[in-house]
Amino acid sequence: MTTTPSAPLDAPDEDRLLAGFDATIARNDRIEPRDWMPEGYRKTLVRQVAQHAHSEIIGMQPEGNWLTRAPSLRRKAILLAKVQDEAGHGLYLYSACETLGVSRAELTEMLIEGRQKYSSIFNYPTLSYADVGTIGWLVDGAAICNQVPLCRTSFGPYGRAMIRICKEESFHQRQGYELLMTMMRGTDEQRAMVQESVDRFWWPALMMFGPPDAESPNTAQSMAWGIKRNTNDDLRQRFVDMTVPQAEALGVTLPDPDLVWNEDRGHHDFGEPDWEEFMAVVKGNGPCNAQRIAHRRRAHEDGAWVREAATAFAARSRIAGAQQARVEEESTR
Ligand SMILES: [Fe+2]
Ligand SMILES: [Fe+2]
Repeated sequence: MTTTPSAPLDAPDEDRLLAGFDATIARNDRIEPRDWMPEGYRKTLVRQVAQHAHSEIIGMQPEGNWLTRAPSLRRKAILLAKVQDEAGHGLYLYSACETLGVSRAELTEMLIEGRQKYSSIFNYPTLSYADVGTIGWLVDGAAICNQVPLCRTSFGPYGRAMIRICKEESFHQRQGYELLMTMMRGTDEQRAMVQESVDRFWWPALMMFGPPDAESPNTAQSMAWGIKRNTNDDLRQRFVDMTVPQAEALGVTLPDPDLVWNEDRGHHDFGEPDWEEFMAVVKGNGPCNAQRIAHRRRAHEDGAWVREAATAFAARSRIAGAQQARVEEESTR
């Protein structure tokens, strides 16, 4: 943040810092970790970036479920690459979050203790291999709608992480669509599997954008701070408009009798997701919430020896490095 605060020079410190911060946001410049920021801005970002990181990591589970049962070596290689990408996304985002003064260990604790959330979509089960395709097409598709605008978010490390993540998400979406297209060109049974999967994932995918704008109390402040660039309803509309022609090309029906093109608006009208179901899933009562957290906790505990070994190795390397430097220094005397 290289700004000249617009508050008078004799203003109290806090006011001048805030004026500098506001000026940076107004210019659409990035706030960097070394810059002063209001505590509310920092807290909102920690919550959003952590929730995003947790979603990437928990999101590995529904699809990881099918890794050992992929129908061919090619499908297995694609799915492995995709699931590993999600692990990488989690790591970029935890790193971005750490620049806000919270450690990855603390974030993991908050996740497995249920004090921080992740996307509601990952609390639904994956019942067939068609779900791998549907998740790529609809879930990664919704993620792209959400995340492309976040490349311009006001916090530097978050925006830069999103640029790289979005490139990989578009591969995820395309592999899902290609899998579904292959199945749709197959047998009647395969086409029925695709339709059944789309029927289950359509509404939860729409819920990924969060509650309607009228019930999203944090949106206005997040937009004023340049953290969010679009409202939930805007992004949901964009997703529906993008997805309908893809569903037609695929030959599947989206399970919404109210879905229709509205010539006046230049957008599709569509039905209302079941917000009671959404709230139940967010509060921990979805079909797989307990299973997802239990699995994450087990993986964390099973990985304790790796973290200990890596810490011990790093400490030893530091000692060895210091000894080496001393030897070199003495030999040059
Ligand atoms: Fe991802
Ligand atoms: Fe993805």
